[in-house]
This record gives sequence, structure tokens and C-alpha cells, in this order.
Amino acid sequence: MIDEMTTVLEPRPLSDFVETKYIKDITNRALSYIKAGFPVHFRGPSGTGKTTLAMHLASRIERPVVMIHGDEEFTTSDLVGGEHGYRIRKVVDRFISRVLKTEEDMVKRWVDNRLTVACKYGFTLIYDEFTRSRPEANNILLSILQEKMMDLPVGRGGEQPYLKVDPDFTAIFTSNPEEYAGVHRSQDALRDRMITMDLDHFDYDTELAITLAKARLTKQDCQIIVNIVRGLRESGRCEFAPTVRGCIMIAKTLKVQKLTPSKSSSAFMQMCQDILASETSRVGSKTNQDRVKEIVRELVAKELGIGKTIDVAEKAAQSTAAIETVDVKKEKKESESLAGVSS
Ligand SMILES: Nc1ncnc2c1ncn2[C@@H]1O[C@H](COP(=O)(O)OP(=O)(O)OP(=O)(O)O)[C@@H](O)[C@H]1O
Ligand SMILES: [Mg+2]
Repeated sequence: MIDEMTTVLEPRPLSDFVETKYIKDITNRALSYIKAGFPVHFRGPSGTGKTTLAMHLASRIERPVVMIHGDEEFTTSDLVGGEHGYRIRKVVDRFISRVLKTEEDMVKRWVDNRLTVACKYGFTLIYDEFTRSRPEANNILLSILQEKMMDLPVGRGGEQPYLKVDPDFTAIFTSNPEEYAGVHRSQDALRDRMITMDLDHFDYDTELAITLAKARLTKQDCQIIVNIVRGLRESGRCEFAPTVRGCIMIAKTLKVQKLTPSKSSSAFMQMCQDILASETSRVGSKTNQDRVKEIVRELVAKELGIGKTIDVAEKAAQSTAAIETVDVKKEKKESESLAGVSS
């Protein structure tokens, strides 16, 4: 019993949790599905607040929480339980003082894992990134979610070959889209048993409120950061769109260094370029990084109002440059041929 209970979390609202209209709306919708008896699944790109929302939702359900993180190596017994431990019995016989006789025998011991604990006691299960586990490991969930029965492996003992799922049991799932590295396709049957809510990057107010809550800079400084990150995201020119984590990293770094964007613009520029180039590239290709750094440079300059006149002229020059050297050559040829015509 004690072993089982050590895996249980007490749901408590996070101290810096931000609840904007956007968050409230998602939470209330999810809560209404949970109340109607359906598991909820938050699906979306990295950094869209899935895990945080799942924990928040769990705290609203007001039942103890067990959390599982999807893992490629998982088997069903990692979810349900197995003969993990040994009970060791040691007998020390000192009947004749000079002879030490010991006897050990080991009895395999069944330990319920988190899923079984949640089903048995009616806790809230958060299965974070469940599609990182192989689909066959998750098969056990099919009957739990539909028939409210859990098949128990033979080794567990007990009279019944199944466990009746407590009516208070609820499940919240999160996952990244299928194109993410290390993610399996979710089984159709499993997905059909849950209500999937697709999340996207936060709206402006929420992204700003989260940045403010995490770093406690001034609102104006946070606005500058959020505008830069969102500008880069909206440019659509990154391998991976930057997330609210980018805003948080920049804001926290500024905070610890006691800097502000306007008073230390070159340090701020460097920081934004480092953090955002790192966040948006997987393999670190130099071309991608240079492209991102250039866009960030423009965005920072625009936000800080530095090099504004250059900005417009430069942008025009850059957009011509972006039409690549081929165009330059073409233009050159054209002007040469025009020159030929006029002469
Ligand atoms: N409502 C919120 N209030 C405060 N902070 C939040 C809120 N939502 C998300 N965050 C913060 O934003 C960041 C990203 O959120 P989270 O980790 O929940 O995203 P995720 O979608 O689970 O990402 P991943 O797919 O990478 O696991 C975290 O630092 C988290 O603390
Ligand atoms: Mg997460």
C-alpha cells in the first residue's frame, strides 16, 4: 500500500499559473467533457501548454493525481505493475556460537504500477506524451476507458482476473503531433475513446501574461520580448516555430543579468539571437541559424526603434537580395542588353 501511494501527487494550482480568457475557455470545455465521463486529450506542438493545462485540469477535478510520462521502452507491465520486487527473508542461526548459519529465501513480490493505482482508487491519471509509448503498451487502456475494466495479469494474485475501475477514475492525455521525432501514431481505437482538443500557440495576452509571471520584468519589456518571438513565429521561416519557452528564457536571462532591452540593446540582441536560433533549429544548420538570426536582428531593431531608417531601406535591399544572385545576374544582363540597344 505504501509503495503504491508514493507515486501519488496532490493536485495543487501552480503559484505562477496564468488564467486568461483563453486558458479559462479551454479548461472549462475540457472540464465539461470530463464531467460527462470522457477522457480528454490535449494535442499540439511543443510549448503550447499541454502538460501545464493537464495539471491544472487535474487540480480542478480535486482528486489525487498519478502521472505517467510516455516512453518508448514501456511495456504494459510498466503501466499495470509486475513482479518487480523481492521479499528477502533472512534467518540467522547462531545456535552454536562458533557456527554462523544463514538462510535466505526470496519471494517475488507484485507491485501495482501507477495505472492500476489510479483505476483502483479512482484517481486522476495524467498520461503525458502517451504516444511516445509503443501502441501495444497502451492497449490495456482500451478496456479501461470503454468497459471500465482492467485486465489483470496472472502474477498479481487476487480472486478476480480483472479490476473494476473506480467511477471517480479520470484520464487526461497529452501528445505532440505525429510528425514529431520519437512519436508513434496513436491507435485509432484509443483516440476514438477520448475527446481530443487541438492546442495551438497561445494568444497574445496569454503569452504576455506567462512571460510576465515567469520573470517579473516590466510589462513593456515583456511586450518587446513577446513581439519579437511572435514576429519570428509569424515569419514562417523557422524549422520549428519558437514557443513561449523562448519568451521565458529571454525574460529570465534578462532578469538575472539585471538588463533591460533598451538600455543594453546589443546584449539583448545577442541573447535573442542565441536563444531563438537554438530553439528553432533541430540540427543546427548554419544557413538556418543565420537566417533566423537575421530575422531576429530586424525584429529587435524594430522593437527598440533602433536603425529605423536603415530598417526600411535595408528591408527593401534585402528583399531584392532575397531574389537571389540569379536575379542580380539577370538584371545585369538586362541592363547590359539595354545598354547595347541604346548604343
Ligand atoms: N497557463 C500557464 N500559466 C503559466 N505558465 C504556463 C501556462 N501554460 C504554460 N506555461 C509555461 O509555458 C511553458 C510550456 O508549457 P508546457 O510545458 O505545458 O507545454 P507543452 O505543450 O506540454 O510542451 P511539450 O510538448 O514540449 O511538452 C512552461 O514553461 C510552462 O510553465
Ligand atoms: Mg509537455
